[in-house]
Amino acid sequence: MNAIILAGGYGTRLRPITCSIPKPMLPVVNKPLLNFIISKLMQETPGLKKIVIAVNYRAHDIDAYMKEWQKAVSCEIHVQDERKPLGTGGALKFSQKLLEDDSFFMLNGDVVSYFSYKDMLAQHKKTKAVATISAIRVPDVSRYGVLVSDRNDTIIREFYEKPKTTELIKKYSSYPVNAGTYLLEPAIFDYITPEKKVSIEKDVFPHVAKKRMAHKFEFSGIWKDFGLPEEYLAGNFIILEEETRRLGAENIMHPSVKLGKGTIIKAPVCFDENVTIGDKCVIGPHVVLGKDCEVGDNVKLSESVFLENCSIDDDNDIIKVIMGDGVNTGTNVQLIGPAILGSNVYIEDQVMLKAMANQTVKVCPWVTITAESVEHSGSNGAFIH
Ligand code: GTP
Repeated sequence: MNAIILAGGYGTRLRPITCSIPKPMLPVVNKPLLNFIISKLMQETPGLKKIVIAVNYRAHDIDAYMKEWQKAVSCEIHVQDERKPLGTGGALKFSQKLLEDDSFFMLNGDVVSYFSYKDMLAQHKKTKAVATISAIRVPDVSRYGVLVSDRNDTIIREFYEKPKTTELIKKYSSYPVNAGTYLLEPAIFDYITPEKKVSIEKDVFPHVAKKRMAHKFEFSGIWKDFGLPEEYLAGNFIILEEETRRLGAENIMHPSVKLGKGTIIKAPVCFDENVTIGDKCVIGPHVVLGKDCEVGDNVKLSESVFLENCSIDDDNDIIKVIMGDGVNTGTNVQLIGPAILGSNVYIEDQVMLKAMANQTVKVCPWVTITAESVEHSGSNGAFIH
């Protein structure tokens, strides 16, 4: 077996934190997202020969991380930089020479799913499919590619991308959607034009389906796509719950963490090395703090993820916020998200920043937020420059 992980997207929906960190390297419960994806892949496919990481945006960050992995594992790791974004199918075609000797898994570098790859492989061998596509049922199909099959059959007869009208949503709601993990045969390369931007979902799989060679592998359980800010937060919390359950612990805390007097921790939380929390705080549930984060006294903080080295002053109230590294707040700040603050943002004392319904507040890196800047951002103030 071989595998390819797509890790070259720009991650535009998660800007501004993806301006400095590619999405597959964003921390999830304080470890890069790629770590979860590769660990699971290796656990479930012990005979894996090669892993190809298809990169483009901020390729050097991923390359450096994969060099560390290569020191620890025996399978070959190849980081393939396609230079210009080729899309999901084009990136695969670009790595044909490395993958054409065997069946291979193709994974999205921004999806974590907890289903059995072994069961998927068993079905793939039995059906002799060219493409086996993981499939899951979701309450709202309108954001996904729907996989249409006949009852009790795994053969996919139609792919329908993101049904939008009420009528189409109703029509396609009884089918599962593409969950982004594929098992492919080298014959897939015959369906992809080289050196072109190609989407495997839109331009390749429908042709494989016409030949009745695309099958779905349906599973239920944990499946998290880290595309949107809310999904990044929710994904962190689901994996935090999963990891605490696996470890049999209420919280995950580095031994160096310091907690002040009278501070209450509402599980589950995850605090990395050198996190310090002041007195009389209420932290949690669902808080992930990166290395060297400092929280002052009398702070209320929940449903949030901070990257490294953030500093929160006294009397803050923070809910549903993603903070890039090095963010600082003054005293008496209130932040009610969903919000993403780029790295090194500074929020002055007394600022109140609140997302409006159906909006995410986004703040560019190295910006100082004052009471006036919040006021001027007005009703379309989802982005503060
Ligand atoms: P958005 O810009 O927010 O849509 O994010 P994204 O760029 O990551 O796109 P999307 O979520 O659709 O991508 C799904 C997966 O495919 C992610 O793991 C991306 O890293 C990867 N991906 C998307 N486009 C490319 C590409 O052109 N080349 C490579 N190598 N990977 C890609």
